Amino acid sequence: MNLSTFFVKSYGCQMNIYDSEKITSILENKGLKLNKYAEDADLIVFNTCNIRDKAAHKLYSDIGRVNKYKKEQTIAVVGCVAQAENSEMFNKNKSIDIILGPQSYHLLPQMIDDLKKYPKQLNTEFIVNEKFDYLSEQKRKQGVSSYITIQEGCDKFCSFCVVPYTRGPEYSRPLESISKEANVLTNNGAKEIVLLGQNVNAYDSINNGVRVNISDLIEEISKNENVKRIRYTTSHPVNMSDDLINLHATNDKLMPFIHLPVQSGSESILKKMNRKYDPNFYRRTIDRLKKAKPDIEISSDFIVGYPGETDQDFNDTLKLIDDIEFTQSYSFIYSSRPGTKSSTEVDDTPISVKKERLVVLQEKLKKIQYSFNNQFCNKTVKVLIENQSLSNPEYFFGRTPFMQSVYIKSNDLVPGHEKDIDITSCNHKSLYGIC
Ligand code: SAH
Ligand code: SF4
Ligand code: F3S
Repeated sequence: MNLSTFFVKSYGCQMNIYDSEKITSILENKGLKLNKYAEDADLIVFNTCNIRDKAAHKLYSDIGRVNKYKKEQTIAVVGCVAQAENSEMFNKNKSIDIILGPQSYHLLPQMIDDLKKYPKQLNTEFIVNEKFDYLSEQKRKQGVSSYITIQEGCDKFCSFCVVPYTRGPEYSRPLESISKEANVLTNNGAKEIVLLGQNVNAYDSINNGVRVNISDLIEEISKNENVKRIRYTTSHPVNMSDDLINLHATNDKLMPFIHLPVQSGSESILKKMNRKYDPNFYRRTIDRLKKAKPDIEISSDFIVGYPGETDQDFNDTLKLIDDIEFTQSYSFIYSSRPGTKSSTEVDDTPISVKKERLVVLQEKLKKIQYSFNNQFCNKTVKVLIENQSLSNPEYFFGRTPFMQSVYIKSNDLVPGHEKDIDITSCNHKSLYGIC
């Protein structure tokens, strides 16, 4: 069958969204056309996430839906579920034609051609440097705020997490190729660069014979005068070096906001999770950051109901939240993932208790977020304007230095400009303003 149109659906983290942009560009270069809907596309690419059970399940229900379309379609499952489940997926769902792990997207065009010779195609090798060499040639969809993957994979092996198995060992891209990608993005209008990695602050590379870390990379990107703002995500607490912390004091382009997942505030749970720090270490890290940059704001991820989590453990997490006052967060109920260390641990906390804990934790986080946002009401704040609403062109969207979403009513804002915006109201998620 000749393929002329395709559709990509992304699940999961920002890195998957970045990967989907690259896949789109690879397929466009092959002469295929991006289709608005899955229903009548010749090729459907599912770029999958395996982090929690729900994300993996969603894939199979989505494939089920596709199977009901009245069109013969080629189905490619790529990303982290493809890596984790491998050829097993062909048995689970007969309509899958291609299974491709996250480190070899660049092979997709060849695999599509090879379908003519052999109707089932599989590649789940870790050939990450080859992928980056190839992908750096591809054009990207541009935005005022643009991501660049600088580091991929993870060597930390937290007991609950699939990422070391799906994304493989830590790999850092060469500084020069990242810097080039930043130039391409800014030449096309990007003003904010968000450096991405599963352990972004573990970035470690050699440039012209010299070892470079994420601080060196941020300094290099700051030299680009079109870059107004720089962010990096996701950081691991044990990799918060003095260099990086001090950079928050000295580099004006580095935004005063950091996503630094703590997962739990309990010493024994952190130990079982193999997070490699205790709550005191985490608190000290925040103190160091605040000392360098007093107005820095912190966000986090939390896992509730890890096997064996007691009321006391949970209360320790609540206490930590009260102390640190995270201004944004993601929180999840623990999901047992096949192949991880924690999946063999006894987990006897009833799901009803876990759900209650999640509600309590999220209510607390919401309150803190609201009171942080509320401090901005009737004040002005510098917002980088990212886009204009398509459905309602009187409204613009942007972000504050602290990552708050701002919706602004205005007649004369320009995406890409930084503007002082009068904030008129807020809720726990967003600020609202006029200009
Ligand atoms: N590298 C980052 C996180 C990557 S995964 C870090 O170390 O912090 C994103 C988030 O998903 C994690 O921070 C964690 O909170 C959540 N997560 C990962 N595995 C999970 C699991 N098995 N169950 C529930 N949440 C999980
Ligand atoms: Fe997963 Fe831990 Fe690695 Fe983060 S540091 S990706 S949670 S194993
Ligand atoms: Fe999911 Fe893979 Fe990202 S498991 S969170 S898509 S690294």
